[in-house]
Amino acid sequence: MSNAAENDTVTAPPAEAPAKKKGGAFNRETVLEVQHFTDRLFRFRTTRDPHFRFVNGQFAMIGLEVEGKPLLRAYSMASANYEDDLEFFSIKVPDGPLTSRLQHLKVGDSVLVGRKPTGTLVQPSLLPGKRLYMFSTGTGIAPFSSIIKDPEVYDLYDHLILIHGCREVAELKYGLDIVEAARENEFFGDIVREKLIHYPTVTREPYQYQGRATDLIENGKLFADIGQPPLDPAEDRVMICGSPGLLRDLVRMLEERGFREGSGGDPASYVIEKAFVES
Ligand code: A2P
Repeated sequence: MSNAAENDTVTAPPAEAPAKKKGGAFNRETVLEVQHFTDRLFRFRTTRDPHFRFVNGQFAMIGLEVEGKPLLRAYSMASANYEDDLEFFSIKVPDGPLTSRLQHLKVGDSVLVGRKPTGTLVQPSLLPGKRLYMFSTGTGIAPFSSIIKDPEVYDLYDHLILIHGCREVAELKYGLDIVEAARENEFFGDIVREKLIHYPTVTREPYQYQGRATDLIENGKLFADIGQPPLDPAEDRVMICGSPGLLRDLVRMLEERGFREGSGGDPASYVIEKAFVES
C-alpha cells in the first residue's frame, strides 16, 4: 500500500490525542533525508521511536498536523524492521490534501507516525513454497523494499521474484536503487545476489522489459525472461501491492490457476494489500 491515494483520507481524532503525549496515537518523528525521483515520486527517511515495532511488509498511518489536526494516509514501511530509521516511498498529488504538503518535507521537519502498524503482506500468511513472487506497481513496491531486506524470508524460498511495473523508466529508479543496495549489503548481499530476481517493466516507453505484469504472465514472457516455470499454486507464493486494476486482474488470474488467499490464521498461496485505495 503506501501510495497514500488522496481519497483514503483518515482524519484521526484531533486534540484529545496529541502526538507528543505519552500513550497518544502517534509518534512525532524527525525527517532525516528526502529524495525526489520524478514530479510524481519521492522517498523520505525519519527517526524511529525505539518502541515502534512492525513486521516487514506492514503499513502505518503517516501524516502531518494541519491546522491542529492530524491528516494521515496509510504508508508501508519501506525500511526493514531491524533498521534504526523509517523509510517511506510516496506519490505526490498536486492538490492532494496530504501529499501536496508532504512533498515539501525538509530535513528537520516533523511527521506523525501512527503507533499501530498493520497489514496483510506478511510472510506468516503464506504457506511454505519454492518461489515468492512480489507483484507491484508504482509506490506499491514499498512493502517489498522491506521484505527484500529480510534475511529470514530468503531462508524460506529458493527465489524471491520482485516485479515492479510503472508507466515510465524514471519511475523504476527507486526499485533499482533498493535492489542494488540489497545486493551490496555487507551482511546478506550474498543471499540476495543468489536468490533475488528483479523484473522492472514499463508500459508507456521503450525499455528492456515492457508490458503489464498480467499480460506478461498470460503470454509467458515473464517466465521465459526469468527462467522460471509458469505460476503453480503447489510451488509458488504471491504477494500483490499496487493499483486497484492490478489487484483485481491478478487476483482473478491467480484464482483461475488454483491459488487461494491466505491470512494469519489460515496461511495459503497469495496475499494482497487490501488497504490500498485509489478511488
Ligand atoms: P498502463 O500504463 O498500461 O496503464 P498507474 O501509474 O496508473 O498507477 O500505473 C502503474 C502501472 O500499472 C502502469 O504501468 C500501468 O500500466 C499498470 N497497470 C494499470 N492497471 C493494471 C492492471 N489492471 N494490471 C496490470 N498492470 C496495470
